[in-house]
Amino acid sequence: MKVFIVGGGGREHAIAWKIKRSPLVKEIYCAPGNPGIGEIAECVDIAVEDVEKLVDFSREMSIDLTIVGPEIPLVAGIVDRFQEEGLNIIGPSKEAAQLEGSKAFSKEFMDKYNIPTALYDEATSYEEAKDALGKHNFPVVIKADGLAAGKGVFICEDQQEAEKALGEILIEEIFGVSGHKVIIEEFLEGTETSVLCFVDGQSIIPMVSSQDHKRIYDGDEGPNTGGMGTYSPNYIYTEEMAEEVDKSILQPTLRGIQQENMDYKGILFVGLMITQEGPKVLEYNVRFGDPETQVVLPRLETDLVAIFLAMLKEDLTNTEIKWNEKTAICVVLASEGYPGNYPKGREITGLSDVDKDTIVFHAGTTLEGEGLVTAGGRVLGVTVLAEDIDTARRLVYENVEKIRFKGKTYRTDIAAG
Ligand code: AMP
Ligand code: GLY
Repeated sequence: MKVFIVGGGGREHAIAWKIKRSPLVKEIYCAPGNPGIGEIAECVDIAVEDVEKLVDFSREMSIDLTIVGPEIPLVAGIVDRFQEEGLNIIGPSKEAAQLEGSKAFSKEFMDKYNIPTALYDEATSYEEAKDALGKHNFPVVIKADGLAAGKGVFICEDQQEAEKALGEILIEEIFGVSGHKVIIEEFLEGTETSVLCFVDGQSIIPMVSSQDHKRIYDGDEGPNTGGMGTYSPNYIYTEEMAEEVDKSILQPTLRGIQQENMDYKGILFVGLMITQEGPKVLEYNVRFGDPETQVVLPRLETDLVAIFLAMLKEDLTNTEIKWNEKTAICVVLASEGYPGNYPKGREITGLSDVDKDTIVFHAGTTLEGEGLVTAGGRVLGVTVLAEDIDTARRLVYENVEKIRFKGKTYRTDIAAG
């Protein structure tokens, strides 16, 4: 088979790494890819937003199966376009991708299907939003409705902060059309957990749990990032919790997808807050998480491509999916200054010194001549699998030390509890 992966970050490197192990696959292509992916796949210079070029490439190359990493092409409708051309693709339809593409859409969906989530109001003008604010306590959470590259959520401690956030979104329009509507919602206290699921329209099968560390600094200080590190399993996510989540969240979500006639053969990532009242949904993402994928897929024993093929046939329930019992940790190495401005082009060394079993996933890297240099905020993700969490932590940080670039920034408390 010829498999095509859309994207070029650490998540897509992890998908390519897993697919490379499939006996069903002969060739892997990736657009745009990165130097790490380039070691196991052929990278194609097409941007993830350029849906028509991605369609043309797949048709011309007779690609058998396409997997989409990032949300932008999914929300733009890449799945519908591939299907119109008779091409196999894993992902939700444009309509179903609204579960991530519009927070108002996903909140209405949760309300309609009785899925526990934070209480909320929506508003399309500053005045309307300020009125709605009066119904909420502080801290309050304000979210731009549309995609905002993970930057559209403000946790506001008081009226002044809330008015500032509303002004930036609704008047200054810092997120453009993504901020033409806002969600004002109750602040949920608890522990976050990420549950990625395979969905084929007939069933929803959760993968092993994981936890992301979103803030830039140790101790959950500083601004939010795309994710600075993950571990799996997430120990607070017990079997009883998994059962409760299945009953109160995953099955009602599947029922909603079916009743709304959404075409969904893809990944659904449910971001949860485990509160004292039980698990509640913070958000849906319609794709694999980054860097959740870098700890979840190394624990998957089953052939990922076989799972994708079963999804296309709506046959997930008859597919055995096996996971190993190990603990996986991924530590992200970022550029100094991320998530704000950061320099690029800094030489990366030491990759050949890491242990054989350590997996280094590339994210923001590029080749300059023969040398590897930094090219993004999140540069590399170092993943280790071990029998227990202490060993995994020791090994991952030993290997993190071996990789060098100027301004290397990482958290030292990933999976530290
Ligand atoms: P989202 O993109 O909606 O997942 O929000 C990004 C992050 O903001 C989440 O991972 C949480 O850490 C935080 N967050 C979002 N909504 C809430 C909420 N209602 N209560 C507390 N924290 C939240
Ligand atoms: N790590 C969070 C996300 O992928 O959205």
